[in-house]
This record gives sequence, C-alpha cells and structure tokens, in this order.
Amino acid sequence: MTDKIIIFDTTLRDGEQSPGYSMNTEEKMYLASQLEKLRVDVLEAGFPAASEGDFEAVQMIAKRIRGVEVAALARTSKKDIDAAWGAIKEAANPRIHVFIATSDIHLKHKLKMDRDQVIDKTVETVKYCKQFTDNIEFSAEDGSRTDRDYLCKVFDAAITAGATTVNLPDTVGYAIPGEFGDLVAYVKGHTPNIGKAILSVHCHNDLGLGTANSLEGINAGARQAEVTINGIGERAGNTSLEEIVMTLHTRRNYLPYSTSINTKEIYPSSRLLAMITGISVQPNKAIVGANAFAHEAGIHQDGVLKHKTTYEIMEPDTIGLDTSRLILGKHSGRHAFRDRLRGLGYDLSEGDIDHLFKKFKDLADKRKQIVDEDLEVLVAEEILRVADTYRLKYLNVISGTTTVPAATVQLEIKGKKVEQNAGFGVGPIDATYNTIARITGTKSKLLGFSIDALTGGTDAQGGVTVRLEEKGVQTMGKGADPDIIIASAKAYINGLNRLEHLKRKRGR
Ligand code: KIV
Ligand code: ZN
Repeated sequence: MTDKIIIFDTTLRDGEQSPGYSMNTEEKMYLASQLEKLRVDVLEAGFPAASEGDFEAVQMIAKRIRGVEVAALARTSKKDIDAAWGAIKEAANPRIHVFIATSDIHLKHKLKMDRDQVIDKTVETVKYCKQFTDNIEFSAEDGSRTDRDYLCKVFDAAITAGATTVNLPDTVGYAIPGEFGDLVAYVKGHTPNIGKAILSVHCHNDLGLGTANSLEGINAGARQAEVTINGIGERAGNTSLEEIVMTLHTRRNYLPYSTSINTKEIYPSSRLLAMITGISVQPNKAIVGANAFAHEAGIHQDGVLKHKTTYEIMEPDTIGLDTSRLILGKHSGRHAFRDRLRGLGYDLSEGDIDHLFKKFKDLADKRKQIVDEDLEVLVAEEILRVADTYRLKYLNVISGTTTVPAATVQLEIKGKKVEQNAGFGVGPIDATYNTIARITGTKSKLLGFSIDALTGGTDAQGGVTVRLEEKGVQTMGKGADPDIIIASAKAYINGLNRLEHLKRKRGR
C-alpha cells in the first residue's frame, strides 16, 4: 500500500514570475492544457491580484481546464482574495491559496507586524475565504526559517479557521535535507489538528537542494509537493516536477509513494515550456536534459549495448522520450509526423496537422533531415501563427572587422506597401533589428535572445528565439535559417507580428 503524493504544479505562478519566463494568456493556456494531460492534481494558474493580465489568464484556465483543481494565489488581503476568487470561481474544482510570512525576519523587516497580529490576520483571511470555498490552502512564507513552535501555532490557527492544506515553504532555499525533514516531522507532531489538513512542502533550489528537501519532507509526512516543470521559479527555481515524480517512480522499492502523473507526458511538457519561453533546458538537467539519456563514454556505451540496466536507471520511454525515433525526412508519412509532434507536446487538430504536413514536405524537399527544433519553428510560424502584419522581403547586411555593421531591410506591411530602410548597429543583428524597428515604428524591448544550432556542422540550420515586450504585452518569436542573421530577422518579425496581434486583441 503506497501513500499518494499530491502534485501541485506552480509553473504558471511561481515559475512564471521569475525573470524571462513570463507568458501571455494564450501561451499559459497551451501549457495548462499540457499540465492537464500530465495529470497534475493541482494547477496553480497565477496570482490574479498582480495584474489584469494575470487575472484574465487565471480566469481562462479556470473556465477551460476541467480535469484538474485550479488554484489562485492571494496575500492575506480581502482585495487579493476577491480577485483570486473572481478568477477561479468557475473552475470545476477551485482552490484559494493564501499566504503570509511567518519568520521573525519577515515580520520585523517586511510586514512590521508581531506574531499575534500575523495569527489574527491568518484567521481573519482564511475565514474570509471560507465564504467562497472549502478548498483553502494556507502557506507560511519563509516557513523553514520560522520558530518551530510558532509555525505550529500558525498552522493550528489556519486549520481551525478552515484551511484544508497547510504548506511549509523553504522560500529562500536555505534548508538542509535532514533539518527540513525534522521540521516537517515536528510540525506533524506538534500541530494539534494537523490530522484535519494535508501538509505540503514547497522548496526552492538556491543551494541545489529543492528535490532532496521535498523528498525528506515527504518521508516525514508531507503529502503534497509543490513543483514546477524544468524546475523553473524564483532565483534558482523551485523543486522540479520531473525530479520528484521520477524519483518516486524509479525508487518505488525504497519510497512507498505514488503520484497520479502520466510520466509519458513529462518530456512533452518540458519541451513545450522551453519552446514557449524560448529558454532551453540545460543539457545535463536531470530527467529532461538533452544528455540525460545520452551515453558518451565508450565503456558506458558498451555496457548499455550489452544490457540497458548497466548504466540506465530509467527507460527514456517512461518520460515520453522516444530515443529510437526515426529521423524525419521527405519520405516520412503523416502518421510519423503527427507522432513526433505529439512527443513535443503538440496535440493538434487534424486540420492543423494537414496544414503543417504540407509545410513540412516543402521543408523536407529542401533539406535532408528535419529535427525537432525545425518542427517547433514550424509550429510557431504556422500554428501559433497570427496574421502577418510584417513580412521580410529583402535583407542585406554588411559586417566585418573594418566596417560599421549596416543592414538594409525591405518589409511588406499589411500585405500592401513595401517599406525600405537602412541602419547601423554594434553588430549585424543589432543593425538588422534597429532597421526593422525603424521601418515598423515599433518600440518593443528585447527581453531575451537565443541562438541554437539545430543541426550539426557549419552549414547547420540556426534557430533563433526572441522574447519581446511592448506596452506591457509580452511574446516570443521564432525563426530558423542556415544564415543566423536571417534567422534572427525572421524571429524578430515573428515576435513583432505576435505583439501586433496581442495589442489589437487588448485594444492597446
Ligand atoms: O516560496 C514561497 O514561499 C511561495 C509562497 C507564496 C508559497 O512561493
Ligand atoms: Zn515559492
């Protein structure tokens, strides 16, 4: 008999609030649908009081995602709770997640409140939540640095007021596994009514101990783990979903716990998040990194060929990674094409597949091999596509050791007029972007820029991802080309087209 661990995913809240990871509503919706397929138990969709955009995204997720509990975060203020409830009230199973800091450091320097005041506030706001729902989570922010007996008192008060889950965060990633396990056991043993609530852990990864701390917490009695895909989150991130789930799965002989996660959706979820945010996973990242199942050393390869278990503790297939998959090319059929897209996290309609398959065939005619990143660019350009306001007609760039980088660009605007301009920059990409910005009259901020070699060799296809922001609206853009300057221009124009679409939708 194994104990079930509730997987509470906070990729769209704690993950999304970290630099470089903000997503627009459509992007959040894509990810939320994937998290539903992954079968997380609770999906924390955002912090509705933070902004109009957050409210709108949480509301849309709450309305559309029916198979998973949807949580919204709130501080201990009626205004925050009203916003949280306003956004999730139509969810099939809504949860209000309310938090206040409990450590003396936070009380003294941040809240300027004493311990009794924090307890009063906790009780008042949990009771306020209760008029909306019985599904209330209370978090003691900076719990791991809170006086133990006081922490138990706060949890006891929160549970008496109506909290059904109490969460113990290691907010600053300061705890050491043995110490954190002791703390969870102490809370279990010294909070009189703890039996009436689920005890949860929420560990940050500042010392690289998020997973270890969460596992110690589970061993000590926690039955909910708060996690994110790829471990994204504030600073060094949160405990990663894939590490917790696959540790419990792989070491079930030692750890008697189960989760409801469909492990085959782990890799597609990781990939989708990386694609949406444009931030790739580090190659040596446990479970989902590009090297996680790659055996380079001859002695390892020899062992794996003789028997997989010599050096492989998990099957790649368990996380939905098909290492035996065929390289796609011009002879690949629609079925293989659809399967590969599915493995990358895209569950597309038959119509979208048809459209994309034609584009894929065109691309395959030009190139021998089509890699996953090519497909992601195709999806970004064709499916997540919006009507093109701008289209690249012509680009000429001069750059070198003895010249000021200069770009001449021609853009077709709204399918009608063609505008041309030339400009300079500190490098060829800067010159190209300055010129495009001048022609389009846009003032977007470049929040992120990354280039990946999509295939091997110096003739590799370069894939560029940008993240742009204008008037509070953010989006990504993608482009691919063997010439990285052209790929960069395509990504920028793709991002500008998305920004135009989003600004129009929001009336900005
Ligand atoms: O890290 C933290 O303390 C949090 C809380 C809001 C749960 O994210
Ligand atoms: Zn956190």
